[in-house]
Amino acid sequence: MKAVIPAAGLGTRFLPLTKAVPKEMLPILDKPAIQYVVEEALAAGVDEAIIVSRRDKDAIEQQFTPDDDLVSYLRGVGKDDFADAVEHAGSLPVTIAYQDEPLGLGHAVHCAASATGDDPFIVMLADVIVPDNAISQRMVQVSEAHDGASVIALLEVPEDEVSRFGIVGGDMLDDGTMHITTMVEKPALEDAPSRYAIFGRYLLTPKVMELLAGLKPGAGGEIQLTDALVALLDSEEVYGCIIDADEGFDTGTMDTWLATNITLALRDERYRDTVNDVIERNR
Ligand code: UTP
Repeated sequence: MKAVIPAAGLGTRFLPLTKAVPKEMLPILDKPAIQYVVEEALAAGVDEAIIVSRRDKDAIEQQFTPDDDLVSYLRGVGKDDFADAVEHAGSLPVTIAYQDEPLGLGHAVHCAASATGDDPFIVMLADVIVPDNAISQRMVQVSEAHDGASVIALLEVPEDEVSRFGIVGGDMLDDGTMHITTMVEKPALEDAPSRYAIFGRYLLTPKVMELLAGLKPGAGGEIQLTDALVALLDSEEVYGCIIDADEGFDTGTMDTWLATNITLALRDERYRDTVNDVIERNR
């Protein structure tokens, strides 16, 4: 199976930071966000990650290209751990597809259609990270248990955040998954079918590529992935895999990116004392 990782957006919410640095390359501790996503894909059994990028975001491509000169320099000065890290990033099975204009998430996913062909694929948003890599693996298991159906990761959000997300409704099954029957993009609280929000990971059947090909631009003049998923509900079963709030991190805004870095630094013995000391000194 292949993963499609859309990373061709403009990252406007981080400007001026993202004028030259793609938002997907922002650091989460010692790695760019998108590298966590590629590693999560591989842990779920994906054999190739297709990053949908823009031609002027070449830092993304460079991150996953081998750099033999840097590796031999690092080995020459005895920095083998860094040499291993550089070698690892350059060896990941990544290919790049291009979206020439940011016409929406659905459009970005469709830019990888020739690579995914007639096979199911996982869409992984490049600004959502899952440090223990568990969610995509679980989604593959849920799909297998339901005859290869599409599976979407869901996170229960507080009432005052419902209107910021795509929200699903459906029936809870005995195995803890949801059989999804409705989906609404950014609903008002009173129109929301539940508090379960779509959370950046989608295991999808090839039918979705077909539906995307026929979509007209929706909200904001963009081709929306959610519109294709709403259409999918008419012809195929779709299931929801519910995740815990401490498993996955949205890093797509300055606040959530900062919170993710601090949370992961506090979970990591290499950085925990530094963060605690800084907080203590600034109380
Ligand atoms: P976002 O909406 O979070 O990214 O899309 P954005 O558009 O870059 O952010 P802002 O609103 O301008 O700050 C989620 C993911 O989908 C990709 C983005 O790169 C991001 O990783 N995306 C979005 C595309 O690849 N193409 C698009 O047309 C839109």
